[in-house]
Amino acid sequence: MDIEKQYIEDVDKLIPRPDIALDVLALAQDSSTAIEGIARKIEQDPNLTANMLRMANSAYFGFMREITSVKDMVVRLGYDMVKILAITSASAGLLNSPQEAYNLEPKALWHHSYACALLASIIAKHANVENVSPIYTAALLHDIGKVLLNRSLQREIANTKLDKKFATLVELERFMLQTDHAKVGMALLEKWGVPDDIVIPVGYHHTTGEEKSNLLNSQIVYLANYLVESIGIRALKEEDYMFRVDDFPDIYQELPNVPNFQDNMESIMEEFFYQFREVAGTIE
Ligand SMILES: [Fe+2]
Ligand SMILES: [Fe+2]
Repeated sequence: MDIEKQYIEDVDKLIPRPDIALDVLALAQDSSTAIEGIARKIEQDPNLTANMLRMANSAYFGFMREITSVKDMVVRLGYDMVKILAITSASAGLLNSPQEAYNLEPKALWHHSYACALLASIIAKHANVENVSPIYTAALLHDIGKVLLNRSLQREIANTKLDKKFATLVELERFMLQTDHAKVGMALLEKWGVPDDIVIPVGYHHTTGEEKSNLLNSQIVYLANYLVESIGIRALKEEDYMFRVDDFPDIYQELPNVPNFQDNMESIMEEFFYQFREVAGTIE
């Protein structure tokens, strides 16, 4: 774990601990929290508030009269939707920057993460998971380690003469940095005090066959990320990605066996694309 500590040492300079956003996240995970408490917390952060109001007023929700306050938003969207908006807005700010070492243009990581969160929660619902919220959050934050490793990886790539090719990005990271973005992301979220049911799927989203990667939350985030990567979603425009269910059986063998996924894959993917298209305009 020590090598990961080294990469999160200067994290406050790179991404300051988003205190209010993390509090909102923690409050939203706890089903006993009253919505008033969350609303008060959200209002302490003007950026978060503005972001959520913008999303709530987007065409997606189709309200005729403008939503102008957090309270109003709670009344009109309901508790669960406000929770989702709070978690989403809190994460967006962390993932917007370009990640050059990973070949990710501005916002590409955010769009990828958002697509994963959407798909992970649809897969989780089909698997009859009771509390989808930690899975949604973990999928949103699964690649946050890339934000921390971007510079070091860029530097290493520039300074190293590579005569070998790497099958995956994670292998490249491990060769260059002796760790990978999943492990560093996990260390960061642990440092921030995020609960285990979110932290573990982040740390194991590229791992299979280990005890912690066999937990259902980890398997779902792994699967969602794998699918979104195969589809190639890094932008919101439809012409930029494609998915053929027919291609899928070939790769299925290597994937975690999430309950009710294989049999329902076609309808799960259909639901995902429908929702993704619907929300695309709201998450710019
Ligand atoms: Fe990843
Ligand atoms: Fe990813």
